[in-house]
Amino acid sequence: MKFSTFVLSILGAATCVSAQNTNATTKTAELLEGLQKAPTRLARLNVLKDNKDWLFDFTSGLGTTKNAGGNITAANVANFPALFANGLAMTIAQMEPCGMNTPHTHPRATEILYLVNGEMEAGFIEENGARFVHNTLTKGQGTLFPQGSIHYQINTGCDPVLFVAALNDEDPGTSQIAQRFFGLPPDVTQATLGDVGLQEVTKLAIGIPDNMAIGVDKCLKKCGLTRGSQTMKQQQPRDADNALPGTK
Ligand SMILES: *[C@@H]1O[C@H](CO)[C@@H](O)[C@H](O)[C@H]1NC(C)=O
Ligand SMILES: *[C@@H]1O[C@H](CO)[C@@H](O)[C@H](O)[C@H]1NC(C)=O
Repeated sequence: MKFSTFVLSILGAATCVSAQNTNATTKTAELLEGLQKAPTRLARLNVLKDNKDWLFDFTSGLGTTKNAGGNITAANVANFPALFANGLAMTIAQMEPCGMNTPHTHPRATEILYLVNGEMEAGFIEENGARFVHNTLTKGQGTLFPQGSIHYQINTGCDPVLFVAALNDEDPGTSQIAQRFFGLPPDVTQATLGDVGLQEVTKLAIGIPDNMAIGVDKCLKKCGLTRGSQTMKQQQPRDADNALPGTK
Protein backbone atom coordinates (compact mmCIF):
# COMPACT_ATOMS: atom_id res chain seq x y z
CA MET A 1 0.00 0.00 0.00
CA LYS A 2 2.66 2.45 1.13
CA PHE A 3 4.83 1.59 -1.84
CA SER A 4 2.05 2.20 -4.36
CA THR A 5 1.18 5.52 -2.72
CA PHE A 6 4.85 6.47 -3.03
CA VAL A 7 4.95 5.45 -6.68
CA LEU A 8 1.79 7.38 -7.39
CA SER A 9 3.03 10.55 -5.73
CA ILE A 10 6.26 10.35 -7.77
CA LEU A 11 4.20 9.80 -10.90
CA GLY A 12 1.88 12.68 -10.05
CA ALA A 13 4.81 15.02 -9.37
CA ALA A 14 6.51 14.01 -12.61
CA THR A 15 3.31 14.65 -14.54
CA CYS A 16 2.91 18.05 -12.89
CA VAL A 17 6.48 19.26 -13.43
CA SER A 18 6.90 18.01 -16.98
CA ALA A 19 3.48 19.32 -18.00
CA GLN A 20 4.78 22.86 -17.66
CA ASN A 21 7.19 22.44 -20.55
CA THR A 22 5.31 20.13 -22.85
CA ASN A 23 2.38 20.70 -25.18
CA ALA A 24 -1.21 19.47 -24.83
CA THR A 25 -0.66 16.28 -26.85
CA THR A 26 2.20 15.20 -24.63
CA LYS A 27 0.27 16.08 -21.49
CA THR A 28 -2.72 14.03 -22.63
CA ALA A 29 -0.43 11.05 -23.30
CA GLU A 30 1.17 11.42 -19.87
CA LEU A 31 -2.17 11.65 -18.10
CA LEU A 32 -3.45 8.56 -19.88
CA GLU A 33 -0.30 6.65 -18.99
CA GLY A 34 -0.68 7.69 -15.37
CA LEU A 35 -4.37 6.79 -15.30
CA GLN A 36 -3.67 3.35 -16.75
CA LYS A 37 -1.23 2.66 -13.92
CA ALA A 38 -3.54 4.00 -11.20
CA PRO A 39 -5.41 1.12 -9.56
CA THR A 40 -8.12 3.06 -7.73
CA ARG A 41 -10.47 5.97 -8.13
CA LEU A 42 -8.51 8.01 -5.57
CA ALA A 43 -5.23 7.21 -7.31
CA ARG A 44 -6.71 8.46 -10.57
CA LEU A 45 -7.78 11.68 -8.85
CA ASN A 46 -4.14 12.19 -7.87
CA VAL A 47 -3.10 11.79 -11.50
CA LEU A 48 -5.68 14.39 -12.60
CA LYS A 49 -4.12 16.89 -10.18
CA ASP A 50 -5.00 20.13 -11.92
CA ASN A 51 -8.64 21.25 -11.84
CA LYS A 52 -8.18 22.11 -15.52
CA ASP A 53 -7.62 18.38 -16.17
CA TRP A 54 -11.39 18.07 -15.61
CA LEU A 55 -12.31 20.75 -18.11
CA PHE A 56 -12.95 20.23 -21.83
CA ASP A 57 -13.46 23.30 -24.01
CA PHE A 58 -15.75 22.38 -26.89
CA THR A 59 -14.98 25.74 -28.54
CA SER A 60 -11.16 25.38 -28.57
CA GLY A 61 -10.98 23.31 -31.76
CA LEU A 62 -9.67 20.25 -29.90
CA GLY A 63 -11.52 17.19 -31.22
CA THR A 64 -13.25 19.26 -33.91
CA THR A 65 -13.74 18.15 -37.50
CA LYS A 66 -15.01 20.92 -39.74
CA ASN A 67 -16.28 20.44 -43.25
CA ALA A 68 -18.88 21.80 -45.68
CA GLY A 69 -21.88 20.54 -43.68
CA GLY A 70 -20.74 21.86 -40.32
CA ASN A 71 -18.44 20.99 -37.48
CA ILE A 72 -18.47 18.17 -35.00
CA THR A 73 -16.49 18.10 -31.78
CA ALA A 74 -15.92 14.83 -29.97
CA ALA A 75 -14.69 14.65 -26.38
CA ASN A 76 -13.47 11.13 -25.71
CA VAL A 77 -10.76 9.52 -23.63
CA ALA A 78 -8.15 10.22 -26.32
CA ASN A 79 -8.44 13.99 -25.95
CA PHE A 80 -10.10 14.30 -22.50
CA PRO A 81 -8.31 11.87 -20.16
CA ALA A 82 -10.69 12.63 -17.24
CA LEU A 83 -13.16 10.35 -19.02
CA PHE A 84 -10.88 7.38 -18.28
CA ALA A 85 -12.81 4.62 -16.45
CA ASN A 86 -15.97 6.75 -16.46
CA GLY A 87 -17.66 4.99 -19.37
CA LEU A 88 -18.98 7.92 -21.35
CA ALA A 89 -18.14 10.50 -24.01
CA MET A 90 -19.79 13.54 -25.57
CA THR A 91 -20.17 15.03 -29.03
CA ILE A 92 -21.36 18.53 -29.91
CA ALA A 93 -22.20 19.44 -33.49
CA GLN A 94 -23.07 22.63 -35.30
CA MET A 95 -24.73 21.73 -38.56
CA GLU A 96 -24.98 24.19 -41.42
CA PRO A 97 -28.34 24.52 -43.25
CA CYS A 98 -28.92 21.11 -44.93
CA GLY A 99 -25.75 19.78 -43.29
CA MET A 100 -25.58 16.03 -42.76
CA ASN A 101 -23.74 13.87 -40.27
CA THR A 102 -23.23 11.09 -42.79
CA PRO A 103 -24.21 7.48 -41.99
CA HIS A 104 -21.87 5.98 -39.41
CA THR A 105 -21.75 3.59 -36.48
CA HIS A 106 -20.26 3.76 -33.01
CA PRO A 107 -18.96 0.22 -32.48
CA ARG A 108 -18.77 0.54 -28.68
CA ALA A 109 -21.55 2.95 -27.65
CA THR A 110 -25.22 3.79 -27.68
CA GLU A 111 -25.84 7.49 -28.27
CA ILE A 112 -28.53 9.79 -26.90
CA LEU A 113 -28.92 13.07 -28.74
CA TYR A 114 -30.57 16.36 -27.77
CA LEU A 115 -31.44 19.00 -30.37
CA VAL A 116 -30.87 22.50 -28.99
CA ASN A 117 -32.52 24.46 -31.81
CA GLY A 118 -34.06 24.15 -35.24
CA GLU A 119 -35.18 20.88 -36.81
CA MET A 120 -33.43 17.68 -37.74
CA GLU A 121 -34.11 14.34 -39.36
CA ALA A 122 -32.48 11.39 -37.63
CA GLY A 123 -32.58 7.73 -38.62
CA PHE A 124 -30.93 4.43 -37.90
CA ILE A 125 -30.86 0.80 -38.95
CA GLU A 126 -29.81 -1.95 -36.56
CA GLU A 127 -28.74 -5.49 -37.40
CA ASN A 128 -29.97 -7.63 -40.34
CA GLY A 129 -33.73 -7.97 -40.19
CA ALA A 130 -34.28 -4.76 -38.26
CA ARG A 131 -36.64 -2.11 -39.64
CA PHE A 132 -35.57 1.45 -40.44
CA VAL A 133 -36.37 3.86 -37.60
CA HIS A 134 -36.45 7.62 -38.20
CA ASN A 135 -37.86 10.81 -36.74
CA THR A 136 -38.05 14.50 -37.36
CA LEU A 137 -36.89 16.29 -34.24
CA THR A 138 -37.68 19.86 -33.32
CA LYS A 139 -35.96 22.09 -30.76
CA GLY A 140 -35.94 20.49 -27.32
CA GLN A 141 -36.43 16.91 -28.55
CA GLY A 142 -34.04 14.00 -28.41
CA THR A 143 -33.52 10.54 -29.84
CA LEU A 144 -31.40 7.43 -29.39
CA PHE A 145 -29.05 5.50 -31.67
CA PRO A 146 -28.41 1.96 -30.40
CA GLN A 147 -24.83 0.71 -30.17
CA GLY A 148 -23.57 -0.45 -33.55
CA SER A 149 -26.55 0.91 -35.50
CA ILE A 150 -25.92 2.73 -38.79
CA HIS A 151 -27.28 6.22 -38.18
CA TYR A 152 -27.31 9.76 -39.58
CA GLN A 153 -28.64 13.22 -38.83
CA ILE A 154 -29.64 15.94 -41.30
CA ASN A 155 -30.33 19.57 -40.52
CA THR A 156 -33.53 19.83 -42.53
CA GLY A 157 -33.90 23.54 -41.81
CA CYS A 158 -32.38 26.59 -43.48
CA ASP A 159 -30.60 27.87 -40.33
CA PRO A 160 -27.69 26.28 -38.43
CA VAL A 161 -28.55 23.82 -35.67
CA LEU A 162 -26.72 22.63 -32.59
CA PHE A 163 -26.99 19.16 -31.09
CA VAL A 164 -25.47 17.58 -28.02
CA ALA A 165 -24.94 13.83 -27.79
CA ALA A 166 -23.77 11.56 -24.99
CA LEU A 167 -22.28 8.12 -25.67
CA ASN A 168 -21.99 5.36 -23.11
CA ASP A 169 -18.34 4.51 -23.65
CA GLU A 170 -15.29 6.73 -23.13
CA ASP A 171 -13.89 5.32 -26.40
CA PRO A 172 -17.06 4.99 -28.53
CA GLY A 173 -15.30 4.87 -31.90
CA THR A 174 -16.81 6.09 -35.16
CA SER A 175 -16.95 4.21 -38.43
CA GLN A 176 -18.18 6.24 -41.42
CA ILE A 177 -20.07 3.71 -43.55
CA ALA A 178 -19.32 4.98 -47.09
CA GLN A 179 -15.64 5.66 -46.49
CA ARG A 180 -15.11 2.29 -44.82
CA PHE A 181 -17.14 0.25 -47.33
CA PHE A 182 -15.53 1.83 -50.38
CA GLY A 183 -12.13 1.43 -48.71
CA LEU A 184 -12.39 -2.34 -49.14
CA PRO A 185 -10.72 -3.90 -52.21
CA PRO A 186 -12.66 -2.52 -55.22
CA ASP A 187 -13.42 -5.97 -56.64
CA VAL A 188 -15.03 -6.92 -53.31
CA THR A 189 -17.06 -3.70 -53.30
CA GLN A 190 -18.08 -4.30 -56.91
CA ALA A 191 -19.18 -7.89 -56.26
CA THR A 192 -21.15 -6.77 -53.20
CA LEU A 193 -22.98 -4.10 -55.19
CA GLY A 194 -23.95 -6.45 -58.02
CA ASP A 195 -23.30 -5.72 -61.64
CA VAL A 196 -21.58 -2.36 -61.42
CA GLY A 197 -18.23 -1.91 -63.11
CA LEU A 198 -14.93 -1.36 -61.35
CA GLN A 199 -14.75 2.10 -62.90
CA GLU A 200 -18.05 3.02 -61.25
CA VAL A 201 -16.78 1.74 -57.91
CA THR A 202 -13.62 3.82 -58.31
CA LYS A 203 -15.63 6.89 -59.23
CA LEU A 204 -17.82 6.50 -56.16
CA ALA A 205 -14.87 5.76 -53.88
CA ILE A 206 -12.98 8.93 -54.76
CA GLY A 207 -16.05 11.17 -54.62
CA ILE A 208 -17.23 10.55 -51.06
CA PRO A 209 -17.45 13.89 -49.23
CA ASP A 210 -15.93 14.39 -45.81
CA ASN A 211 -18.16 14.56 -42.77
CA MET A 212 -20.02 16.74 -42.00
CA ALA A 213 -21.26 16.75 -45.58
CA ILE A 214 -23.96 18.63 -47.46
CA GLY A 215 -27.27 16.79 -47.14
CA VAL A 216 -30.22 15.88 -49.29
CA ASP A 217 -31.44 17.61 -52.47
CA LYS A 218 -34.95 18.38 -51.20
CA CYS A 219 -33.44 20.45 -48.36
CA LEU A 220 -31.07 22.28 -50.72
CA LYS A 221 -34.01 23.08 -53.00
CA LYS A 222 -36.13 24.32 -50.09
CA CYS A 223 -33.34 26.57 -48.81
CA GLY A 224 -32.20 27.74 -52.28
CA LEU A 225 -28.71 26.29 -51.75
CA THR A 226 -26.31 24.48 -54.05
CA ARG A 227 -24.20 21.50 -53.05
CA GLY A 228 -20.91 23.19 -53.97
CA SER A 229 -17.54 21.53 -53.67
CA GLN A 230 -16.65 19.35 -50.71
CA THR A 231 -13.35 17.96 -49.51
CA MET A 232 -12.72 14.20 -49.78
CA LYS A 233 -9.89 13.46 -47.38
CA GLN A 234 -11.53 10.93 -45.08
CA GLN A 235 -11.10 8.04 -47.50
CA GLN A 236 -9.61 4.78 -46.32
CA PRO A 237 -5.85 4.79 -46.98
CA ARG A 238 -4.88 2.49 -49.83
CA ASP A 239 -1.95 0.21 -50.39
CA ALA A 240 -1.39 -2.76 -52.70
CA ASP A 241 -4.10 -4.76 -50.90
CA ASN A 242 -6.99 -2.37 -51.51
CA ALA A 243 -5.61 -0.34 -54.41
CA LEU A 244 -7.99 1.23 -56.91
CA PRO A 245 -7.73 -0.23 -60.46
CA GLY A 246 -4.83 1.22 -62.43
CA THR A 247 -2.93 2.38 -59.34
CA LYS A 248 -1.29 -0.91 -58.31
C1 LIG B 1 3.41 18.18 -29.33
O1 LIG B 1 4.30 17.16 -28.97
C2 LIG B 1 4.18 16.00 -29.76
C3 LIG B 1 5.10 14.94 -29.18
O2 LIG B 1 6.33 15.46 -28.80
C4 LIG B 1 4.50 16.34 -31.21
O3 LIG B 1 4.36 15.20 -32.02
C5 LIG B 1 3.54 17.42 -31.68
O4 LIG B 1 3.86 17.81 -32.99
C6 LIG B 1 3.58 18.62 -30.76
N1 LIG B 1 2.52 19.56 -31.16
C7 LIG B 1 2.70 20.87 -31.19
C8 LIG B 1 1.50 21.66 -31.60
O5 LIG B 1 3.76 21.41 -30.92
C1 LIG C 1 -18.51 25.42 -35.34
O1 LIG C 1 -19.27 26.20 -36.22
C2 LIG C 1 -19.95 27.27 -35.61
C3 LIG C 1 -20.84 27.91 -36.65
O2 LIG C 1 -20.09 28.24 -37.80
C4 LIG C 1 -18.97 28.22 -34.99
O3 LIG C 1 -19.64 29.28 -34.32
C5 LIG C 1 -18.11 27.47 -33.98
O4 LIG C 1 -17.12 28.29 -33.47
C6 LIG C 1 -17.48 26.25 -34.62
N1 LIG C 1 -16.87 25.47 -33.57
C7 LIG C 1 -15.61 25.08 -33.63
C8 LIG C 1 -15.12 24.32 -32.43
O5 LIG C 1 -14.89 25.30 -34.57
